[in-house]
Amino acid sequence: MKMILLGPPGAGKGTMAARMKEELNIPHISTGDIFRAAIKNQTELGVKVKAIIDRGDLVPDDLTVALVKERLSEDDTKTGYILDGFPRTSGQADALAEFSAVDGVINFTVSEEEVVRRLSGRRLCKECGTGYHVEFIPPKKEGICDKCGGELYTRDDDQIDSIKNRLNVYADSTEPLISYYREKGLIRDIDAGQNPDDVFANFKKVIS
Ligand code: AP5
Ligand code: MG
Repeated sequence: MKMILLGPPGAGKGTMAARMKEELNIPHISTGDIFRAAIKNQTELGVKVKAIIDRGDLVPDDLTVALVKERLSEDDTKTGYILDGFPRTSGQADALAEFSAVDGVINFTVSEEEVVRRLSGRRLCKECGTGYHVEFIPPKKEGICDKCGGELYTRDDDQIDSIKNRLNVYADSTEPLISYYREKGLIRDIDAGQNPDDVFANFKKVIS
């Protein structure tokens, strides 16, 4: 199954994609994760995008489309993939349609208030990338990853100014994609404001 996860920052796209990837055994492709890895490794791409991402603005379409096109040309995507955080503009959606046909688009809905609570409490493992939340999905030992013992950190763009900007950018550039895909009959809506197990149960129901 080839699917796109749509939804505002903090809707739980990454959390749900990580669980669904195990369930379906297909790759989870997050453009945000790819950019953060490039920043961490100080590659040419990472240097180019760091300031944009820290502010919560969008990386230009040409850069983003090129990297997704390359990733989707790899063999492990032939039977399916979970695209998380791409497309995010109508230009990206049009470009994707030229090189891959998706089976469905999952639209995660959640209130702005909940987004702010989730993002300000998010913690990630420096080593394996596993995501936690100080209140909702806490690690067993504060500041330490349950899976690998790595140190947990807060994303630079999870500061309040950047969260607000990301919400505005989402409303301006990404939300219009909901009607774009609805008109094609591809959208399935999921209430992402519930607890993670309930959201995942609905997600499984919808894709089956
Ligand atoms: P990206 O990494 O995609 O960030 P985002 O869309 O802002 O989404 P988030 O990762 O913040 O949220 P999420 O929905 O994955 O939620 P999560 O599961 O982590 O993009 C980062 C930046 O990269 C962009 O701002 C942009 O600059 C650039 N970029 C990326 N893609 C791009 C593109 N296509 N074009 C241009 N630029 C691009 O959950 C959030 C928190 O909530 C966690 O703590 C989690 O534990 C918790 N949580 C999850 N689910 C629940 C639940 N059900 N109940 C309670 N807590 C929950
Ligand atoms: Mg994410």
